[in-house]
Amino acid sequence: LARGTAEADLAGRHVVISAGGTREPLDPVRFLGNRSSGKQGYALARTAAARGARVTLLSANAALADPAGVDVVHVGTAVQLREAVLKAATDADAVVMAAAVADFRPTQYAAGKIKKKDGQEPDPIALTRNPDILAEVAAERPRAGQVVVGFAAETDEVLVNGRAKLRRKGCDLLVVNEVGERKTFGSEENEAVVLGADGSETPVPYGPKEGLADTVWDLVVERIDRG
Ligand code: CTP
Ligand code: CA
Repeated sequence: LARGTAEADLAGRHVVISAGGTREPLDPVRFLGNRSSGKQGYALARTAAARGARVTLLSANAALADPAGVDVVHVGTAVQLREAVLKAATDADAVVMAAAVADFRPTQYAAGKIKKKDGQEPDPIALTRNPDILAEVAAERPRAGQVVVGFAAETDEVLVNGRAKLRRKGCDLLVVNEVGERKTFGSEENEAVVLGADGSETPVPYGPKEGLADTVWDLVVERIDRG
């Protein structure tokens, strides 16, 4: 999948990518989070820039250096990520949601650190649903012809669940990974199937996250041109 010379097929295009994982604070020192490293989203940003795009990278808690030539906006929570995505998406040709967005946030934020009390069981943590950013962007399409891409990590019935999720979200492409031992979280490599709303199914063999990123951009370019 190595591309010899980077072709500038995204020149003049603005692409928006979310990366990393949101953190939902409980108190000033604790949060609910997830294991997304941000590496796939950063690989998407680097490869899009190499292909000539103007890139806005919305980075949620990724411990990675800002890629050269990319506008990076750092966010913490799902609510902050939603605001940043909606703002950046207004003139975007493509929006790729590679970030792992927390489905729920603690209903209450404790302004002071939560302390244990002697001989007392802890209080349960009440949770509230977070907004679905991908579904919202896919429904609104702030720019005509915009291509919207989601990611999904699944453990069971990967293709069946992936197809259902693609329809539910209303996006054009859904990159589905099977979560396994050496794959996905924190690793340098990935393996996936990219499902298209048009019924297409593009398998991407196990390999560097750049390879998957380039396949995503190939599919996005086809769809921008079509639209
Ligand atoms: N996503 C989002 N906003 C959310 C949750 C998810 O934008 N509140 C996006 C993710 O960035 C990803 C896609 O939706 O691109 C799929 O995420 P996933 O967690 O697999 O989907 P969910 O609808 O949350 O389904 P599940 O119940 O399986 O977690
Ligand atoms: Ca989820």
